Amino acid sequence: MSIIIIGIESSCDDTSAAVVRDGFILSNIIADQNVHRKYGGVVPELASRAHQQNIIPVVDQALLQAEVNKREISAVAFTRGPGLMGSLLVGASFAKGFALARNIPMIGVNHLHAHILVHFLQEKNTKKNTPVFPFLCLLVSGGHTQLVIVRNYLDLEIIGRTMDDAAGEAFDKCAKVMGLPYPGGPSVDHHAASGNPDSFSFTKPKAEGFDFSFSGLKTNFLYFIRDGMLKDKNFIEKNKNDLCASLQKTIIEILLGKCIKAAESTGIHEIALAGGVSANSGLRKAFGEEAAKRGWALYLPEIRYTTDNAAMIAITGYYKYLAGDFATHDITPVAKL
Ligand code: KG4
Ligand code: ZN
Repeated sequence: MSIIIIGIESSCDDTSAAVVRDGFILSNIIADQNVHRKYGGVVPELASRAHQQNIIPVVDQALLQAEVNKREISAVAFTRGPGLMGSLLVGASFAKGFALARNIPMIGVNHLHAHILVHFLQEKNTKKNTPVFPFLCLLVSGGHTQLVIVRNYLDLEIIGRTMDDAAGEAFDKCAKVMGLPYPGGPSVDHHAASGNPDSFSFTKPKAEGFDFSFSGLKTNFLYFIRDGMLKDKNFIEKNKNDLCASLQKTIIEILLGKCIKAAESTGIHEIALAGGVSANSGLRKAFGEEAAKRGWALYLPEIRYTTDNAAMIAITGYYKYLAGDFATHDITPVAKL
């Protein structure tokens, strides 16, 4: 009999539901929340209200598109954390109600774990190459930057993490300084494509071992812009593409440098990228070139699965289902996991 998992994601500002059958994606519906744009960042209270409005229509749409009836669902997987508490509560409460009403198991999923396991999501009619265990995953999102050794679907070890800002935050905060719209990462990527990455040089903060640090870069960038604007009030406008290209190059060098170090130290040559920042075209290109040089097998998630989505929650739920890793009904969301 098929195992059908419905996944629910509501950790930040995207409300998403997806249906996965035996590891194959059937639907993945995402409602993003434009309400945050004018504030230049996610407003938690507005996010939870929007999740509450979106969750039922999004789930209905996911079931409709998957051509699956509620009665056929084997289990409901939901993001337990990390994330914004008010947002997580909407998804968790929905999952509890759904599981109780249908009398099916519930599975709590770590959002970061899910970003990584999205590599195992299969699409009908296409045979996807999946990473071979153990592999090294660079997880780069808006809230996290980690280097993870993935030994099996449910056996992961974090060997490096950011000491301060995440890579996505570095993109977003520097973009904000230049007056680019939120979230800044995609805009920086866009402008960088027409800029010269060697125009400006920014600091690469030091961090021990496989850890990362980005806050020094952010401060350096902020002061550099301030000084430039004091000399010429059109400094940003005149140099936007070059600023973006140079900033992006610096972030990529920090990420790639630690990955090379980890690959050399662990001897693992199966390398995967995951998380929102793994959509960055410069990062994908730099890793592609390095992989060719070093003989790495490189796995890049499809762009639509880089940022937050419920397909990654459903596929992680599927592997937890196979392992019998179910939650009890007193499970609560956790903002920091
Ligand atoms: O994984 P994600 O959707 O959410 C979290 O779990 O945090 O990641 C969102 C982050 C944001 O910081 C956004 O600016 C960044 O991913 N991002 C990018 C790109 N697309 C999304 N950063 C750089 N280049 C991109 N193309
Ligand atoms: Zn995420």
